[in-house]
Amino acid sequence: MCGILGMVSKDSFSVRELVSRLQRLEYRGYDSAGCATAEGFLRRKVGSISGFLASLPEDAAPDATTCAAIAHTRWATHGGIAEQNAHPHCAGDVCIVHNGIIENFLELKEELELKGAIFRSETDSEVIAHFLQQYAAEPDLHKGMQDLMERLHGTYAIIALRKGDPRLWVAKKDSPVVLGIVGSGGSASADGYSSYIVSSDIFAFSDLTRKAVFLEDFQYLMIDAKSARLYDRKGKQLPVKPKEFHWESHNGGKMHYEHHMIKEIYEVPDVARNLEESLAGPQAASLSRMISLLRESSRIILLGSGTSYHAALLGRHLLTAAGLDAYAYASTDFDASMARSHDAIIAISQSGETMDLLVTLKAIAARPDRGDIRIMGLVNVPHSSIERMADCCIRVEAGQEVCVAATKSFANQIVALLTLAKAFGFKTTYARLPLAEVIEQAEPVAQEIAPWLASKQSMYIIGAGACYPAAMEMALKIKEVSYIHAEGMLAGELKHGTLALIEKDVPVIAIIPDAKSHTVSSVKEVEARGASSVLVAGADKAELGLKGKALFRVPAGSDAEVSLFAAICGQLIAYYTAKHLDRPIDKPRNLAKSVTVL
Ligand code: M6R
Repeated sequence: MCGILGMVSKDSFSVRELVSRLQRLEYRGYDSAGCATAEGFLRRKVGSISGFLASLPEDAAPDATTCAAIAHTRWATHGGIAEQNAHPHCAGDVCIVHNGIIENFLELKEELELKGAIFRSETDSEVIAHFLQQYAAEPDLHKGMQDLMERLHGTYAIIALRKGDPRLWVAKKDSPVVLGIVGSGGSASADGYSSYIVSSDIFAFSDLTRKAVFLEDFQYLMIDAKSARLYDRKGKQLPVKPKEFHWESHNGGKMHYEHHMIKEIYEVPDVARNLEESLAGPQAASLSRMISLLRESSRIILLGSGTSYHAALLGRHLLTAAGLDAYAYASTDFDASMARSHDAIIAISQSGETMDLLVTLKAIAARPDRGDIRIMGLVNVPHSSIERMADCCIRVEAGQEVCVAATKSFANQIVALLTLAKAFGFKTTYARLPLAEVIEQAEPVAQEIAPWLASKQSMYIIGAGACYPAAMEMALKIKEVSYIHAEGMLAGELKHGTLALIEKDVPVIAIIPDAKSHTVSSVKEVEARGASSVLVAGADKAELGLKGKALFRVPAGSDAEVSLFAAICGQLIAYYTAKHLDRPIDKPRNLAKSVTVL
């Protein structure tokens, strides 16, 4: 979703520096970008941040240096992709950037219009600027922020500034916001540092500092060049407790790779090995706590959205095979009232911020009869909202994922779930997964079939049992980056209707762990009707007795391991097909990496 950024510094900085930093958040939205400074510089533009950067004045321009500024990269919700809807939104001397959705904006807008406000955008966010403008003449915005939090309904991370006042004001409810403190200062407080960077996530400043303050709901911050002060919704000052975090400090560059997606697929073997070592070392205590909580639970409910939901589906197979009573739901398909006493909820999320999942978890946590329902997290980004609210958490340690499409984080979610299942007796084939071999063998095949797949309007991906989640995941990846319709389905379901769509040369990609799999019959049925099958299999064509236009020969193993190998083949198929079509692979249209609205 949108990325918000605010910077306050003892030394002045240029808007170019601010906007370059905003580029680290571009995966959160790329419909438009904008910035405003306390000196009154304001610029907004539709399109990428690099285009925005190119349109800015050189560093020397006097109005483009500042000590306090805000910036925004947008993923449109209310109002089309147009300059007037780009943030910051300003009213008089007040400018704001916002991530979230203001549900009662129409009611507030009417009220403010009656008082003379003139609205210029179609967004919900603009009401925030007009609301705060009512307090513009006061010496500070304390009352404005408190009243704002009282009146706004919905979700928000907001940064506000006033022209001529080098202070930033930050408010939070549900949407993520974190303060990075840069330089040296008061160790137990946020006083005296050289600069303060407030942002939607830690990657915005992880190259500069390891100290951060994670805001909780209904808190607000006042930041000036000397300090950052935290308050509750009534204006009571709260202690500021910076946390030490460890996260990637690189600048999000692609190195020699053409796209982040392929770079991140190549990172799979390394991050998987690192996670295995971490679970045996630094994270061993968290792992054993999770295992003992799972032992005490009666049911295990795995929740996630998108790719993380597919990890949940595979997790269900693994834990069920290990003898546990496990279920998987998409975040939006599970209502808090469905959780029962003694349930263990495993929330799977790369970002740890997905709103569809967070609302469900918060509703479970708020149940008066929550009792012994446990909430556990399997997240990638450290100190995320899900990690902070969970009773225990495992970090999947895939590192920063810049491409909107999840690749290495999915692989590591499965590595973590395999490790959990092993603790309950699940038998794996490999002590160390042969992931580098999977990539090495699959890449040339993916390159070879990409032009043919790219010429198609639609394709089907089939799998059974533990391979069904990989079919779903492969289909999602293909749709997301190539824009070709792909339907992931249970192989056995094909003959119950979808078979009517199979005709000559329709691609059917089948995930087949071994020759005994029922999916072999499904492939025979589609081949008999002229479909071109692509086999992702732990066996050769001859053993399977299938024609197969192409074969991704993956190492044989348990169905769940083959499922992971197939999902990685799917990442490569999606990548090379999208590349053939010259799609904007790392930033597919209409999407954003972290979906922090409902
Ligand atoms: O951060 P999360 O894992 O909670 O995100 C969930 C989905 O939005 C995400 O997996 C999405 O489906 C990916 N873009 C798929 O590649």
